[in-house]
Amino acid sequence: MKSFRNKTVFITGGSSGIGFAAAREFLRQGARVLLIARNTGRLEKAKESLTKVFPGTDVATLSLDISEARKEQAGLEEKVTGFGSPDLLINCAGIAYPDYFEAIPDKIFESTIRINLMGTWYMTKILLPHMKRGSVIVNVSSTAGLFGVFGYTAYGATKGAIVNFSETLRCELKPKGIQVNILCPPDTDTPQLAGEEATKPAETKAIAGNAKVFPPETVAKALLKGIRKNRFLIIPDFMGKFSHLVYRIIPGFVRWFMDNDVKKVHKKSNQDLTRQQNEVKQL
Ligand SMILES: NC(=O)c1ccc[n+]([C@@H]2O[C@H](COP(=O)([O-])OP(=O)(O)OC[C@H]3O[C@@H](n4cnc5c(N)ncnc54)[C@H](OP(=O)(O)O)[C@@H]3O)[C@@H](O)[C@H]2O)c1
Repeated sequence: MKSFRNKTVFITGGSSGIGFAAAREFLRQGARVLLIARNTGRLEKAKESLTKVFPGTDVATLSLDISEARKEQAGLEEKVTGFGSPDLLINCAGIAYPDYFEAIPDKIFESTIRINLMGTWYMTKILLPHMKRGSVIVNVSSTAGLFGVFGYTAYGATKGAIVNFSETLRCELKPKGIQVNILCPPDTDTPQLAGEEATKPAETKAIAGNAKVFPPETVAKALLKGIRKNRFLIIPDFMGKFSHLVYRIIPGFVRWFMDNDVKKVHKKSNQDLTRQQNEVKQL
């Protein structure tokens, strides 16, 4: 797809973060956008702010829980009739709950699978029959979907599955003229990343400390460029591209590098513990 002018774009997670920044970029490039998320208030606020920046553009909203998309299929299909079939489907909605494996409740794992993986599956399944040759589907994964990162057992399992799902879907849809891409954003300054701080283990913070945090606008620009150039795997940042390449050639090096960060955290916490024990002894 070379131009987004007059294209109809469905974006799940379009009310916030990367999805919202993508909506803004698509509108800037002349597309029509349907924002999909659960919270109606946030959807309306997003629409209002987009139409303020791009008056006269076509922005619509749909309140829908993608993990329940089968139950809400009628509303989604009504939107296809009213707003138009999608030329692009951006499966961006997702949740993340980093913590130690032992500390992640089963319920959180189940909802992470339902939203990140099954939500992407349902949305694609329902909308694909409405998509013509030349259409595009982008599934949003993560660096944590490309290799294991401490603290992301639940999230990484879903994002890794998104990579394999997309790899296979690409093979099947290519003969039908439908392009499939994966977006693997780096750490991006969004409410999701901020929310992760509450449960993120110290080891995960140490590993993430090596990486820069990007504005969602940078990720959105890379997304549109990646779609235009049909880069199957869209990795917006240099470190992401570099670590992915190194991991493919010498996976042991990437593991060693991350294990080293973990060791440093453990060494420091052991030293802190010894210091505290000595202080108690001196009292
Ligand atoms: N931020 C990062 O550092 C980062 C890095 C790598 C990958 N990613 C991925 O990028 C995507 C976007 O993340 P973000 O950081 O932009 O998150 P965000 O700011 O928290 O936005 C998440 C969006 O998804 C929607 N959403 C969540 N659950 C949903 C559901 N069940 N049904 C429909 N919509 C739902 C939210 O709206 P409602 O809550 O109103 O439904 C919101 O619009 C996610 O897939 C995330 O895993 C993010």
